[in-house]
Amino acid sequence: MLILGIETSCDECSLALIETNDVGANPTELRKMRVLHHLIHSQIDLHRPFGGVVPEIASRNHLETIHPMLDELLSRAKISWADLKNENSPHRLGGIAVTNRPGLIGALLVGVSCAKALAYSLNVPLVAVDHLNGHLHSIFLSEKISEAQLPLLVLLVSGGHTELHLIKSLPPASLNSICLGSSRDDAAGEAFDKCAKLMGLDYPGGKFIDALARSGSAEAYAFPRPRIHHQETGQFDFSFSGLKTSMGNTLTKLGFTPHIFGDTRPERLPQGELLSHLCASVQEAIVDTLLYQSQAALAASHAKSFAVVGGVSANSRLREKINEEIKVPTFFPGLEFCTDNAAMIACAGAYQILRGEALTTDQVLKLNAYSRSELEGSPSP
Ligand code: KG4
Ligand code: ZN
Repeated sequence: MLILGIETSCDECSLALIETNDVGANPTELRKMRVLHHLIHSQIDLHRPFGGVVPEIASRNHLETIHPMLDELLSRAKISWADLKNENSPHRLGGIAVTNRPGLIGALLVGVSCAKALAYSLNVPLVAVDHLNGHLHSIFLSEKISEAQLPLLVLLVSGGHTELHLIKSLPPASLNSICLGSSRDDAAGEAFDKCAKLMGLDYPGGKFIDALARSGSAEAYAFPRPRIHHQETGQFDFSFSGLKTSMGNTLTKLGFTPHIFGDTRPERLPQGELLSHLCASVQEAIVDTLLYQSQAALAASHAKSFAVVGGVSANSRLREKINEEIKVPTFFPGLEFCTDNAAMIACAGAYQILRGEALTTDQVLKLNAYSRSELEGSPSP
């Protein structure tokens, strides 16, 4: 079955066509999802001058790019619009999966509106996917995951979230998971990006820190590694907001002006070897903190396997240290499926469709988008 995935929750417009390998397969077994084609259009260049994502610019750009991208996706996959509609075609579309929460409302609404129009005109099932559930499914795009044993502990590390989930069932069943911990303030990706910004690096700075850290010393500067003791709360929580203060203070002590204060003269910002040392040191503090809480949660939950998903799972030092120190089998998404992408949304949505959870016509018409603050404390719509 062919599934179209649509992701527009933030500053990436992404479309994917995946194929569920369900011919004659046992409905209870983990099915391989084959990504036929996927496209990711990043808006980073548009937002960079502002040092962060501007919601109105994001929505407008999604609107301008989504339709040409649909045409391009189909042309790359050598599938026509007529094929998608034709009940007798091997390329008949089996369903559409769209992210509708959490994210920037205007950005989400572009994807949701496009998905509703397509589902209506092509007469195919539509499912709404939670972006975080999409990230959790990014590991199920890989063959290797069939070796994972339950319970599976997943560390979700992105620009907006840092969470530990204990998963007790694998797809095609819905991921029956409990949250063992989350960030009380900044997310891990946010900590990378805010520290990068203070050092004068471009937005989003996680990947620049990762690259520069390779030639720096992780012991050059001391950054905090907040350890929240789960004995007190029962949760394996994180707190990264102190890192930006610490980075600001370190830069000031070294005689620089943290970039956030608007002084962009190159001599006021760290360069060369010193910049690499700062990157390596702050990266190590983030990685150590993630590893420490993950190890504690692994021990307490007796998880038999471990996975890391979300944009920060692309970090090379995090991957290296996890591979060195975590003793249970560990899984990462392919690098192209760490940051936001529609293939993971199509994968989560495909399983929803296979479970018979497609929206009814009435639900399709009412389908809406929800920001994070609208969802917090209220049940999933
Ligand atoms: O999952 P994602 O694309 O978007 C959200 O759902 O938030 O994650 C984006 C985050 C950004 O904070 C970005 O700096 C971070 O992932 N990131 C990295 C790396 N690549 C992306 N952080 C550290 N090292 C990387 N290589
Ligand atoms: Zn994401």
